[in-house]
Amino acid sequence: MDTRGVKITWCGHATFRIQSAGKTYYIDPFLAHNPACPEAEKNPKHADAILLTHGHTDHLADLLPLAKSSSAPVVCIIETGAWLASKGVPQSQLHAINKGGSVSVAGAKVTMVHALHSNGIDDGGRMVYGGDPAGLVIEFAEGLRIYHAGDTDVFGDMALIAELYKPDLVLLPIGDFFTMGPRGAALACRLLKAPAVVPMHFGTFPVLTGTPQEFREQLRSFSPSTELVVLKPGETLGAPRS
Ligand code: NI
Ligand code: MN
Repeated sequence: MDTRGVKITWCGHATFRIQSAGKTYYIDPFLAHNPACPEAEKNPKHADAILLTHGHTDHLADLLPLAKSSSAPVVCIIETGAWLASKGVPQSQLHAINKGGSVSVAGAKVTMVHALHSNGIDDGGRMVYGGDPAGLVIEFAEGLRIYHAGDTDVFGDMALIAELYKPDLVLLPIGDFFTMGPRGAALACRLLKAPAVVPMHFGTFPVLTGTPQEFREQLRSFSPSTELVVLKPGETLGAPRS
């Protein structure tokens, strides 16, 4: 697919580093703690924006050090924002929005949408309320629109996301156990009218059993027009071919 110059690097699990118009965006920074993250991606110091779908450890674990070293704006849901503030992230750095709301950060427009999941935050062994989990639609300066579904099962209102935001590329979990598996994700592609999909949230841990091969087969039935782009951790979609 044509990413219009936007570079999308999968850091493994649900974590992406995206470069657009000279800016660096991190989605769900699970890096040093992420067994699937390549060594070269584990300890970034710089970000221009940090976007968080929900507060589970496998999405949040490396957010605080990156927020501190980069001073980048952090987009998250309001209750998770309150928790981040309690851990020292300055209010001025937080864009604690809610579903249906949008905010502009580092030249991109970020909209929070529904996700069918849960959102407790492990605060030193105690599970605290993090608000609803979410998905994010990001419209980059180049005009490319990406939907990162966060952790979710398939839900019928993905059709509303398609109608409202017309994503060019969707990033969907396929691992099963904590999220939908390949069959649900294939139906999601149909509801989202997705031109292209990158599967994520599989293979990181043994319980995440969904595979790109099974996803490819399910797409044949549910959404044959969707282009499947399978990345390996560390690989970049939109990079010039070497
Ligand atoms: Ni989760
Ligand atoms: Mn997760």
